Amino acid sequence: MTAPVIPDYLHRMWETLPEGRIPAKIFNDPAVHTLEKQRLFSRAWVFLAHESEIPHPGDYVLRWIADLSVIVVRDEHGQVRAFRNACTHRGNQVCKAEMGNASHFRCSYHGWTFKNTGELIGVPYHREVYRGRLDRAEWGLRPVRIDTYGGLIFGTLDPNADPLDEYLGGFQFYLDFFLKPGPEGAEVYGPPERWVSDTDWKICAENFGGDGYHTPVAHQFGFALGFYPSSGRTHFMGYAVHIPGRGHCIGIGHTPGLPPFVGFPPEVVEGYMNALSPEQISVFRDARMSVATVFPNLSFLIQPFSLAPGQPGLKFCTMRLWHPRGPGKIEMWTWCLVPKHIPAELKHEIYRVYSLAFGAAGTFEQDDFENWTNLSRQHAAFNADSFELAYLQGLDLEPIADFPGPGRAFTPYVTEIGFRNLWGTWLNYLLTPLGEPVDPARVPPAFHPPETQPVAD
Ligand SMILES: [Fe+2]
Repeated sequence: MTAPVIPDYLHRMWETLPEGRIPAKIFNDPAVHTLEKQRLFSRAWVFLAHESEIPHPGDYVLRWIADLSVIVVRDEHGQVRAFRNACTHRGNQVCKAEMGNASHFRCSYHGWTFKNTGELIGVPYHREVYRGRLDRAEWGLRPVRIDTYGGLIFGTLDPNADPLDEYLGGFQFYLDFFLKPGPEGAEVYGPPERWVSDTDWKICAENFGGDGYHTPVAHQFGFALGFYPSSGRTHFMGYAVHIPGRGHCIGIGHTPGLPPFVGFPPEVVEGYMNALSPEQISVFRDARMSVATVFPNLSFLIQPFSLAPGQPGLKFCTMRLWHPRGPGKIEMWTWCLVPKHIPAELKHEIYRVYSLAFGAAGTFEQDDFENWTNLSRQHAAFNADSFELAYLQGLDLEPIADFPGPGRAFTPYVTEIGFRNLWGTWLNYLLTPLGEPVDPARVPPAFHPPETQPVAD
């Protein structure tokens, strides 16, 4: 691998981030994109698929880690596996369909054939051209290390990466709100919707890490037209939680006095009561909405939306992957997650509500992408490295001492503390050379409680 080029402004950012200043250029720079592939996506746990996308033996989907194509397959014995989608002979993709069911993958170039366990079992003219000297056991598909949580399948290219449990660092507590709307969990409603957009994955990951600040402005027409209930003067209320040094963050918008799990159908309210712990219920029962990012680029959102203006909203859950395709360019993947245990008609109703708000034709989605593509264009400017962005909210907040969940929790919900931790975690990956452990303890502080604040002149 060529030696990484580290732009100077990344070193400067290490100093300015604790003051809440971030160079705009990080959000659209070819050098950063290359460095992200070399040092971040090569080492982090990257989301690949939900188990419900491949329920039967032989089911597979094609996914990506950075620019590597990965096959995620349930083998004949029911075990989920992942492989680099490359024939070990010349590197051709052995699987070209986005999803399907196959017991074997056969390369279309010279015909090497692999079982869905990765084993190389077919080599044309084996005896004649290799004269018995090809060790087939050595030339199987190259496995990708995977692990799962709550139906989510993650992969990492780093054999020394911390185990997934440690990497999530307690964020599982919050992920359960999106993944466990009942004891049987959640499932995807059909295949993901996908499109390419001229924005940087980080802008989207940050927004879904808890940017409640933009909602009343960017999405004002959702309120004005009556599709989304305004929380008005209580909008800023709730919690922002992050896992220090790991980058994961969640925003939980609370409106006091709402009935428990308001906006979910009764079957789902009951599901939550059965699936979540008392501590989890105490955090989420009053949530009017919630939005979360698993570092680096997987996000979730639960919010209500109405099919017709003025109707009471129904809550849906979306899972989305902001897949980097180039500097200032993403491939967007979005799924609707539905509770497994509810009737089919209700799943469809939730999917309709989701589609109206998010997905390629969703009103909220278009509000966001209009802003994200515009600001990404600004950040590509030749001198955007000296344009500092203001990440100043909550610099002097103190964490809530007795919050029932893991990580550091703050109130109000509208704050930028979690984003500073997110971009500190990102910077830590980019500035830690390959071969050295990425130590979460090195991430710059995301807040300065009053006693540690620098004294002003
Ligand atoms: Fe938004």
